[in-house]
Amino acid sequence: MQKDKKILYSAVQPTNSLTIGNYIGAVKNFVALQEEYDCIYAIANMHAITVRQDPAQLRRNTLSLLALYIACGVDPEKCVLYLQSHVHEHAELAWALNTFTYVGEMERMTQFKDKSARHADNINMGLMDYPVLMAADILLYQTDVVPVGVDQRQHLEITRDIAIRFNNAYSPTFTVPEGLFMKVGAKIGDLLDPAKKMSKSSENLNGTVFMSDDRDTIMRKFRRAVTDSEACVKYDPETKPGVSNLLSIYSVFTGKSMEECEREFEGKGYGDFKAAVGEAVADSLAPVQAEQARLLEDRQYLDGVLKAGAANAARRAGRTLAKVYKKIGFYQI
Ligand code: TYM
Repeated sequence: MQKDKKILYSAVQPTNSLTIGNYIGAVKNFVALQEEYDCIYAIANMHAITVRQDPAQLRRNTLSLLALYIACGVDPEKCVLYLQSHVHEHAELAWALNTFTYVGEMERMTQFKDKSARHADNINMGLMDYPVLMAADILLYQTDVVPVGVDQRQHLEITRDIAIRFNNAYSPTFTVPEGLFMKVGAKIGDLLDPAKKMSKSSENLNGTVFMSDDRDTIMRKFRRAVTDSEACVKYDPETKPGVSNLLSIYSVFTGKSMEECEREFEGKGYGDFKAAVGEAVADSLAPVQAEQARLLEDRQYLDGVLKAGAANAARRAGRTLAKVYKKIGFYQI
């Protein structure tokens, strides 16, 4: 194992197709970070079931996300890539950490409040306990760094609180992790309502661009994107949220700096600008989609990746869980 490198952990839920927000805020960075860090990436299917899932669809989405990770450039030879439910230590550590987490803390979580409002018919215990399972994910691997979008900031803070609380109650057991948020793209906005984060579960999906969208759909969604009445392509998230959101997307997909992007559209209208953003996204996604489709044909390879990933993850997770069980006084034979 690469002991000289810091440990980095992140996960994505296999619900629906991913959005370009998931890609920009998370997966794209996973690829860039895999050289520098000892990376562990999970498919969080245990988190996914906090909202009712169709079983067949969940299975399909799981493989689809695995193929997408790899198609985007996450290399299973360099990283640990695995499915959360394959490593039973997650559920076990979550149970222990539950006893170090207060009900009031969970009730105050923004995502819990949002999801409770959206799924009023199914406010299950898992939905409330979601952040504790996420803390277990992160703490099992003695993680130093967690790259996520800003919507996960609160979950990361509670993870740190739980780790510190446990360490103080016994002795240093968990590494206290830091969040890693990108300067550009940590919160991609909905194209029709840029103040809101782009989400898989928006009511109007015309503001959400999926990684699986075809070129025509992508172009149509960007053509309809909300801008402002100034006709000036400038990055200023406060006064120009729509244009700034599009510029962030353009900058990430082209690899150009914000200044370069602004210069490119000097004197041009929003119509040209929006078409250029759509083209850049569609051009970047086409090869990823093709590679994902190719990988999905090779089930044996994908299963092999999951098997190797689970074995590696379980070895590491087992070490932490054993330490925890010893400290809390579970008799060991
Ligand atoms: P999930 O599946 O909702 O989202 C995956 C990642 O995408 C980021 N993201 C965004 N970034 C920028 N702009 C957006 N509009 C946008 N929408 C989503 C999210 O911040 C996230 O990084 N709870 C996590 C999954 C998880 C996890 C973990 C993450 C489970 N265990 C342990 C880190 C560590 C989640 O629901 O992500």
